[in-house]
Amino acid sequence: MTIFVRIIVLAVVLGIAVVPALAQNKYVGAKQCSMCHKTEKQGKQFDIWSKSQHAKAYQTLVGEKANEIAKAKGIKTPAVEAKECLECHTLGKTVDAALLDKAFDIKDGVQCESCHGAGSAYKNMAVMKDKAKAIAAGLTEFKDEAAIEAFCKTCHNEKSPTFKGFNFKEMLGKIAHPVPKAG
Ligand code: HEC
Ligand code: HEC
Ligand code: HEC
Ligand code: HEC
Repeated sequence: MTIFVRIIVLAVVLGIAVVPALAQNKYVGAKQCSMCHKTEKQGKQFDIWSKSQHAKAYQTLVGEKANEIAKAKGIKTPAVEAKECLECHTLGKTVDAALLDKAFDIKDGVQCESCHGAGSAYKNMAVMKDKAKAIAAGLTEFKDEAAIEAFCKTCHNEKSPTFKGFNFKEMLGKIAHPVPKAG
């Protein structure tokens, strides 16, 4: 058996999702998603997100208020350079720079792929149109509302220095960006 086959067999035995781990999908950036997700018919997700606080999350780290918060936490660099702040104000985790496509712009803050997963393998039309294929190619699947809530709380929690609580239903309403129902 080749080592590759052994890894697959082991992963199947252990029940590990091996595809995303081996594929190493890259983060392509919100502008790549905007190409298709900006029309009225699609639901203008790009416009809605652009106007949201998430799109400004990186910018929030630039300035006095953020620097004071960072300083109070003992951080020696400006907030916008501190990984302790960047992780929640961009992708939700510290990401290997090798996984960032050259079109990816960290200044876009909390962006499409912070929530939907690295898009290099699912962003083309043939895959996107087929939800099962998109998920297999790395699109995050949310099983139900509870799963969405748990996901939001990976950033909206008391580790945020300015945390004031998180009303899930209300906050989900504020960022809603559905595909309009046909007809
Ligand atoms: C080439 C065009 C195209 C690009 C680029 C594209 N999408 Fe899509 N996307 C689509 C189409 C078409 C659908 C199906 C929409 C529908 O249900 O009518 C879709 C569906 C989706 C869905 C809903 C899946 C479901 O059925 O629940 C998500 C989430 C999504 N796209 C996110 C993204 C993200 C994030 C990016 C950028 C990384 C992206 N898309 C880039 C065309 C595209
Ligand atoms: C990657 C981390 C991250 C994730 C995941 C995340 N958020 Fe946020 N969210 C932030 C940050 C950071 C801000 C503050 C942005 C700013 O003001 O600069 C924010 C702000 C918001 C705001 C605006 C604040 C307000 O009071 O109006 C809403 C609404 C919101 N998030 C909803 C959600 C929902 C719903 C989810 C889950 C679907 C979610 N967020 C997931 C990081 C995240
Ligand atoms: C665990 C995730 C997380 C971490 C870590 C984090 N933030 Fe945030 N930040 C958020 C979220 C979520 C919000 C939206 C409001 C809230 O719930 O605190 C936010 C909001 C803010 C705001 C706007 C608050 C306002 O009232 O206008 C500032 C400024 C800020 N963060 C600075 C920082 C700095 C500086 C750091 C690093 C020391 C940092 N954040 C680390 C998640 C985080
Ligand atoms: C803060 C997290 C977050 C961000 C940022 C975000 N989304 Fe979403 N998106 C969600 C959640 C949660 C859902 C609902 C998923 C579900 O119901 O299964 C969703 C749903 C969607 C859908 C499917 C809507 C439907 O009716 O089926 C599309 C398409 C989509 N997002 C595209 C995008 C694009 C494009 C961007 C960037 C311009 C983006 N999203 C940014 C969390 C986010």
